[in-house]
Amino acid sequence: MKRLTVPRIRQRKGGEPLVMLTAYTVRMAQLLDPHCDMLLVGDSLGQVIYGLPHTVAVTMEMMAAHGAAVVRGSYHAAVIVDMPFGSYEASPELAFANAAHLLKETGAAAVKIEGGRVLAPTVEFLTSRGIPVMAHVGLTPQAVNILGGYGVRGKSPEEAKSIVEDAVAMSEAGAFSMVIEGVLEPIAIEITNKIACPTIGIGASAQCDGQVLVTEDMLGLFDRVPKFVKKFGNMGASVEDAVREYASGVRDRSFPGPDQLYQPA
Ligand code: KIV
Ligand code: NA
Repeated sequence: MKRLTVPRIRQRKGGEPLVMLTAYTVRMAQLLDPHCDMLLVGDSLGQVIYGLPHTVAVTMEMMAAHGAAVVRGSYHAAVIVDMPFGSYEASPELAFANAAHLLKETGAAAVKIEGGRVLAPTVEFLTSRGIPVMAHVGLTPQAVNILGGYGVRGKSPEEAKSIVEDAVAMSEAGAFSMVIEGVLEPIAIEITNKIACPTIGIGASAQCDGQVLVTEDMLGLFDRVPKFVKKFGNMGASVEDAVREYASGVRDRSFPGPDQLYQPA
């Protein structure tokens, strides 16, 4: 099966919903790949893999290492790598250098950046030079120090209008797709109807052109998750069951048993 390309993703606007999940490791990528159109190497790996309080401390090295692992573990889905905080905001030139580095190191198809109209020139700069960009508007976790938390965005009419303007600017600048996170549903619907590229919702609306979740959240590996997460699995409990059984097998010497031991020729 050939890997899904950015132009084919773009063509899915208004069509069959796009399925995206996060992946950070090779085995998870292998498991998700047959079912997903896109795998996002999200900077949420800061919290999920590294136990950081937020994504601000995530580095280019982390994104490059995990992005390469996910590309090695997939052959069907398009792989998108998040640009970490500080790697793209200062100028289009800085963004290009870092995005090119990420694509070279990982083999991914595209990068994702958070932000609105201020970064539209950066999207145009990258796109016109060979780097497809996925935008990310609404709740933008890298701005946690400005926003003061992860609450829903767009509650006031002014803020709602500003988010829609951000989305339009990013789409007109050439973004091939756009994550809309943590907004009131009418905002997500308005953006989806207004812009040319497919929207990917998370805590937004089923009317978006696709959906994304953090895989560990939807698998039930974490107890505390945002309102917009539906737990499709209970992996935390099955890991605990297996580890409890292993520990008791070690303690009562029932593990290793005859099946796990080498026998003389
Ligand atoms: O980092 C991430 O996982 C993300 C998605 C939740 C959209 O940006
Ligand atoms: Na992210």
